[in-house]
Amino acid sequence: MTGPVVRPDDPLLADEAARLSSAYVHVPFCARRCPYCDFAVVVDGDPGADAGTDAYVEAVVSEIAMERPWVPLDAIAFGGGTPSRLPAASLGRIIGALRDRFGVVDGAEVAIEVNPEDWTDRYADELLAVGFDRVSFGVQSFDPRTLASLGRRHGPGQAEAAVVSARRAGFRSVGIDLIYGTPGEGLDRWVATVRRALALDVDHLSAYALTVERGTELSRSILAGAPAPDPDHQADAYEAVSELAAAAGLVRYEVSNWARPGHHSRYNLATWGGGEFVAFGTGAHDHRDGVRARNVRRLDVYLDRVAAGLRPRAGAERLEGEAADVERLVLGLRRVAGVRRDELVERLVAGPAGRRLVAAGVLRVGADRLAVERPLLTDEVSRAALALVGRDLSVSDGDC
Ligand SMILES: C[S@@+](CC[C@H](N)C(=O)[O-])C[C@H]1O[C@@H](n2cnc3c(N)ncnc32)[C@H](O)[C@@H]1O
Repeated sequence: MTGPVVRPDDPLLADEAARLSSAYVHVPFCARRCPYCDFAVVVDGDPGADAGTDAYVEAVVSEIAMERPWVPLDAIAFGGGTPSRLPAASLGRIIGALRDRFGVVDGAEVAIEVNPEDWTDRYADELLAVGFDRVSFGVQSFDPRTLASLGRRHGPGQAEAAVVSARRAGFRSVGIDLIYGTPGEGLDRWVATVRRALALDVDHLSAYALTVERGTELSRSILAGAPAPDPDHQADAYEAVSELAAAAGLVRYEVSNWARPGHHSRYNLATWGGGEFVAFGTGAHDHRDGVRARNVRRLDVYLDRVAAGLRPRAGAERLEGEAADVERLVLGLRRVAGVRRDELVERLVAGPAGRRLVAAGVLRVGADRLAVERPLLTDEVSRAALALVGRDLSVSDGDC
């Protein structure tokens, strides 16, 4: 028998997660571009798309071989885009390349983001056979009208059936991603979505506020007069999901993430803890040996560079000294566990912005840790921390 299962918000777990080694693989392909999405995605007709997914898989395998050897991996995460656009055998080929290059520890977490419309019982078995133990479904909503506004291709029943099938197939952890605050969706419809997700007895839940990213179809339609997300409604929606998830036994461990004990995302907890990870594919960001590097986003450029035997980097930055410490602080404060008190934390809480945040009950100073008490104000805390080294939020935001 194993020992007691650790809660995902346990400070010890958070601190240890920062020492895990992980790999991220980006799969950019999507059947269509969702109107709110600004991730590195590729749809038919985009530059490089005609090379096909097999060419991309081979390029990723080549890129993995270019990375210096490292320690065996504790966690592997496939994100997108839509990783489930790839056959399980192709994903297995990439896992094999990671294993050959770095090794993978026994019992490592191997996770994939899946779109419900790609799921079949057979795909479930194939994913398990190539080593996946964790799946998260991009459900976004169980409300047909909200799904239509978000430009999603699946229906509520299809998402529900996929989650049930994943459970039955035997994945160690099954999770759902939801989006709240879609204009026109009242609180009742959001609550119904959350209840339906929780009724599926999921191990993990992510709930993100709909964010209007620059350059997206959503942003253009809002500029042309369509309603924008309402922050007050989003705050109410966040309160509602927090209460319902807690009542269902899910523990919040990051601003937007809840898990049953034992089912937190090791990969995410490692990256929020400032841990090191390698990353492959278009637009992928990594963090190794104190350097944060990012790949080119365009598929055609990525394929050309790899074919020429070059690492497809768009840029890299060595974060040293205080800049590195502040980045670790900003990421660490996204976790419910918060961060250990150290000299930088003392400076933050002694400064004017920090004092105001403590007085307002946004920051909680404990005997040996600092944590954010009001998660919706995490960005304000980040701003105060980054100001200590003269940076702004855009610098350390977004690692997707
Ligand atoms: C980039 S998606 C990739 C996964 C999958 N292909 C999908 O479509 O759901 C990862 C997650 O980010 C969230 N997300 C992406 N863009 C967002 C936005 N503008 N606002 C809020 N959440 C967003 C969604 O919940 C989504 O499940």
